Amino acid sequence: MSTHDIEAFHARLQEWYATHGRRDLPWRTTRDPYAIYVSEVMLQQTQVKTVLERYYFPFLQAFPTLEALAKAERQDVLKRWEGLGYYNRAVNLHKAAQATAPAYQLPDDFDALIALPGIGRNTAHAVLAFAFHQAVPVMEANVKRVLHRVFAENAMSDTALWEKANLLLNKAAPFDYNQAMMDIGATVCTKTKPLCALCPAQGICAGKEAPERYPAPKQKKATPVRKRTIIAVMDESERFYLTARTSRFLTGLYGFIEQDQAETNCTFLGHEATISDMQHLGHITQTYSHFQLQAEAYIWHLPLKSNDVHWYDLKSIGALPLSRADEKLYKLLIKNKQLRLNN
Ligand code: ADE
Repeated sequence: MSTHDIEAFHARLQEWYATHGRRDLPWRTTRDPYAIYVSEVMLQQTQVKTVLERYYFPFLQAFPTLEALAKAERQDVLKRWEGLGYYNRAVNLHKAAQATAPAYQLPDDFDALIALPGIGRNTAHAVLAFAFHQAVPVMEANVKRVLHRVFAENAMSDTALWEKANLLLNKAAPFDYNQAMMDIGATVCTKTKPLCALCPAQGICAGKEAPERYPAPKQKKATPVRKRTIIAVMDESERFYLTARTSRFLTGLYGFIEQDQAETNCTFLGHEATISDMQHLGHITQTYSHFQLQAEAYIWHLPLKSNDVHWYDLKSIGALPLSRADEKLYKLLIKNKQLRLNN
């Protein structure tokens, strides 16, 4: 691939972006580095449509500046993230905002950016290219596919991907170039049935005769199933016990007691009960990225009024950040209460 080929590609890509690019996405029309940073963190594991329709604007409305985010309660930040998954992202975003005190400005250099919690090379490059128009390439799943195809590679290492990304980068127009690469990945160089005839990279693409061969499909592992029991412990005043989750996956969220389905009993504050004696509420299935949760949900009526732990009434549970599975149990509890009131 000659310099001349690459320059011709830059010109075609620029032209394509001007007419077909998703230029009106709100994080592309703002100059606010903070808003751009928020969008990039959201978009790391979530589709554009979901971020656009449900998360980007409400989050910025709740926390309009880095300073507002830094000073917010973690629980409120997580509540705005509810349903987006990978809650570590929200916790790190919050910590990063706090780390920018007292100026509350995002740095415009790579080393300072990746020193912030949760910011890796890709997010740092995205902030640098999109907020500060610096000449660095951006990498995400769509761009990786485009690069594999352009270079007809089956499986590139991260080092190889960054090297190719640097080679192709249009240093004179890093904002448009990077946004356009993501857009051709999302709309033209699609996983199946790519539209090569419409692609501005035709002139340099070594994979265009058999695009679907690149990258080579990964061996799909069957999603593991986790069989769990989720128990809503209820005290005499119809309040429920929830605990703050600490696993990496659900950090910061609240949840009901959860245990392996193989365990026949549950213990809590010195009380013990057999699961099969509890009131069965229903079955909950939730598919996460790396496993499927299949849970049986129960209420355990504890004849107890204890101040040793915090209890939540139904209404206040609604204000807590919950995982999708706990949210489903919460809805079962509401339904259960309505049934009882109607009878
Ligand atoms: N995914 C990651 N960053 C993005 C952006 N700026 N536009 C669209 N999708 C993205």
